[in-house]
Amino acid sequence: MEHQRGIYHFQPEKNWMNDPNGPVVIDGKLHLFYQHNPFGAVWGNMTWGHAVFTDLVQWKHLPFALNPDMPYDKDGVFSGCCVMKDGLPHILYTGVSPEVQCLAIGDEKGEKFTKYEGNPVIVREEGEMLNGFRDPFVWQDGEKYYMIVGSGEKGKRGFAFVYESKDLKHFTRVGEFCSKESDTLDMWECPNLFRFGDGNATLLVSWNNAVHALDGKLDGAKFSAGEYRPFDLGDSFYAPNTLVLEDGRIVNFGWMRETVPGREQYGWQGMMTIPREIVRYGDGAVGAKPVKEIGLLRKEKLVEKKDFTLRSGENALKGVSSQHCELLIEFETGSQGELILELDKNKATGEKAVISYDGFSDTVTCDTEKCGGKGKCGGYVAGRGLTKLRIFLDGSGLEIFVNDRETLTTRLYPTSAESSGMRLYAEGGVRVKRLQVYEMNGGLQEE
Ligand code: FRU
Repeated sequence: MEHQRGIYHFQPEKNWMNDPNGPVVIDGKLHLFYQHNPFGAVWGNMTWGHAVFTDLVQWKHLPFALNPDMPYDKDGVFSGCCVMKDGLPHILYTGVSPEVQCLAIGDEKGEKFTKYEGNPVIVREEGEMLNGFRDPFVWQDGEKYYMIVGSGEKGKRGFAFVYESKDLKHFTRVGEFCSKESDTLDMWECPNLFRFGDGNATLLVSWNNAVHALDGKLDGAKFSAGEYRPFDLGDSFYAPNTLVLEDGRIVNFGWMRETVPGREQYGWQGMMTIPREIVRYGDGAVGAKPVKEIGLLRKEKLVEKKDFTLRSGENALKGVSSQHCELLIEFETGSQGELILELDKNKATGEKAVISYDGFSDTVTCDTEKCGGKGKCGGYVAGRGLTKLRIFLDGSGLEIFVNDRETLTTRLYPTSAESSGMRLYAEGGVRVKRLQVYEMNGGLQEE
């Protein structure tokens, strides 16, 4: 099933990958770490894999950054973050078990990381019955660093602790950062914060195979937020991690989990999303769009069509076939028309994934059931009159961006290595402003 691997979505060469960890810019280059099992295609032996990127989208693999080799992390080097201090990358991560927070400091180039001799830097307070205590996320505010750590109370609530520190070695617990009652969302994995500079901030938390966003106001070590909302409309987005680039852009990576069991037999599991730029719009909505650098991976333009009406029965993508491409579709909505994109994967067996935009209810759906995936996912998107879909297909990975805001991340598992084409058609007639398809280049840089 090599054809199900991505070529422009980051993946280790083999074996298991889950969460993105500690994205950071060191010496002008993006470094991305990830939860990795070097010994198998199932979760286990958690190690920090490591890659360095050029232009955010092309990578080279580097030796593992952190291995589970100390008494306090022998059962796993779990998720965390990386911040720069005094010109050196500082990784804060969870060592297991029990779950404790630890520090590792890298050299100026971010090639070698040394675990701090004073580890762990944070342990649980005595007697605390928590449903987890992990995944530190740190940001700097003036002279201080704040760290949030995900936790929860079983059957009751999810919350994060907040700590402050001046040197990233000594931390003081300030209290709780934010908390939400819920009997099911009763642990916050990988809390991550986007700060928008004017007190507005969005906290992402992961649990139950989904990412939940809380939009709110940040005041030092206190965050007050509204209700949970889903951060992605698909079924394959988890544990995202964030960095702020030198030009101020907030960039987010997520783990594209496998959506069906039994995939370890193919020798690998897990893909990374393409880097997503987080945007807060004038109406307060927080969304994501592909970073502009993704355009650097565009290879050949397979299709370019402008200003036409797509009528029922017509296929605007006749003769087009690709496994690794970007599709851009701009069309008028606000009518009762429905735009449907079928990714045909095998005409003989009827394997296909179906993406549709219903202009009446402004919903986007993707159904992968007939292509080995989990089934239907999707939801409401804010209608825009003119709607822009950017669709990134890469082997088994599929990411859909709607109007540079909403995202739908999912997986499909075509059994054949041959792609058998695509069909873009409309129910009721849809006015298309622009249709483009680009074949994509791979992101792995040759030595
Ligand atoms: C999220 C998670 C984290 C943990 C890591 C372990 O997917 O469970 O909470 O640190 O994965 O691999």
